[in-house]
Amino acid sequence: MGKRIYFFDTTLRDGEQTPGVNLNQDEKVEIALRLESLGIDVIEAGFAAASPGDARAVRAVAKAVSKPMVVSLARTNKQDIDAVIEAIGDIENTGIHIFIATSPIHRERKLGMTKEQVMDKAVESVSYAAKFFKHIEFSCEDATRTELEYLCEISEKVIEAGATVLNFPDTVGYTTPEEYTHLFQYVTEHTKGIESVRLSCHCHDDLGLALSNSIAAVKAGALQVEGCINGIGERAGNVALEEVAALLETRKDNYQTETGINLKEIAKTSKLISRLTGIAIPPNKAVVGGNAYSHSSGIHQDGVIKDKSTYEIMKPENIGFTETKLVLGKLSGRNALKKRFEELGYTVNEDQLKEIFKSYKVLADRKKEIFDEDLIALLETQPARNESQFQFKDMSLQILSSNQYRAFVNITGENNTIIEGIGEGNGPIDAIYKGIDDALKIEVELIDYKINSVSKGKDSLGEVFVRIKNNDSPVKGRGIDVDIIVASANAYIDAINRLTGLNEKLYQTNSIPVQK
Ligand code: KIV
Ligand code: ZN
Repeated sequence: MGKRIYFFDTTLRDGEQTPGVNLNQDEKVEIALRLESLGIDVIEAGFAAASPGDARAVRAVAKAVSKPMVVSLARTNKQDIDAVIEAIGDIENTGIHIFIATSPIHRERKLGMTKEQVMDKAVESVSYAAKFFKHIEFSCEDATRTELEYLCEISEKVIEAGATVLNFPDTVGYTTPEEYTHLFQYVTEHTKGIESVRLSCHCHDDLGLALSNSIAAVKAGALQVEGCINGIGERAGNVALEEVAALLETRKDNYQTETGINLKEIAKTSKLISRLTGIAIPPNKAVVGGNAYSHSSGIHQDGVIKDKSTYEIMKPENIGFTETKLVLGKLSGRNALKKRFEELGYTVNEDQLKEIFKSYKVLADRKKEIFDEDLIALLETQPARNESQFQFKDMSLQILSSNQYRAFVNITGENNTIIEGIGEGNGPIDAIYKGIDDALKIEVELIDYKINSVSKGKDSLGEVFVRIKNNDSPVKGRGIDVDIIVASANAYIDAINRLTGLNEKLYQTNSIPVQK
């Protein structure tokens, strides 16, 4: 049996640092449960000290999953560590991930600290955390630009203080496979006590080397790989964990490693992350891109028809991609719907089924053929609307001239009140968005708008992603409908609902004119 490689997923922490990505607690729990099915060993659920909301989400994730270890990030100060203790210290199978920058540039320019001061902080915080957690990961931020002797010195000291995992991040995506191999070999050879801890790698993709560097680390002795699904994360992102998993499996002959990853869960996990973060998967993305298993040139097609392995090194079904099927029609019943969800690997409880079936009937009236993708879209967009959230109700549009539209918009607000707005714009969507702004008396900036078709055919469901901003950082929204104008309105209102505290503020100031 090969050596066991542990997968540390930081989609909910480093991944959430992707500009414009903000996940609410329910979404974080949904992702964590999916990561559990995927077979992730450690989930970094967030940064508990960042805000009370982040701490609550970290706790909710730790309570929701049972197999993976759940950790929260902390800087080397007591407040951060206390925030983690308070959030998850009482929950089984949890730990802490403490980091401080160790490179000269970070020590001098960012922290204004000497080597000794950084070392003292590291040791002091690991010793303190060790009173509360058995699992303590320590990261030397910007390790790949740190003096190797100093990395060994600090590693030795934090191991003595109680660290159980040592991580050497390539924080700025600067290293090369050869250099990273050398780092792991050097630290392994020159650090007392290193054999008692798990070594971890954490690679960013600024130069497109995150996968090669992670694999170099594994070859040099790292037993844990950190990354994010779909390779999201700060700047150019983190290594895409699905790529690491697919590589270790496909080239087992070369790496001889074992993992706990259930490859068949990859497609579903990747789609969920894309949907909840609003970050589309590029068609040419390795392992999970839409084109990864399609063959367009005649020569390739000919080869694949004769023998798939001529041009396919992985079977799409092994990654969890199912063949799209025309599934159900207008007359299909609830049981057929339930059965198809089960075949697709989704567990739907009776309450969910009842709600989905209603939406399904509405959709079946408007769309001739319903595909698997439509069903999944229905399942994933079941309204999680709480009473204080806004919901698009209906609208009418007037064409004033070839490039001037007027929209009359109705939105459902708290206690089912109807809020009306009127907007004019140079296209239908511009007019509707202005109508929504008018109804809710807000001004938001639309910074991104994307539209995709969920399945095939002219009557396909349209899926719209938007990103908006008022004073805060950007938030995303998603909407789905056969009518792309309605999908656009849904996406915009979904994003507005995510602007922290906005609804409460609007209602409190009574700024919304309501019609009972
Ligand atoms: O990239 C990095 O250095 C990090 C640390 C906080 C582990 O994300
Ligand atoms: Zn990182």
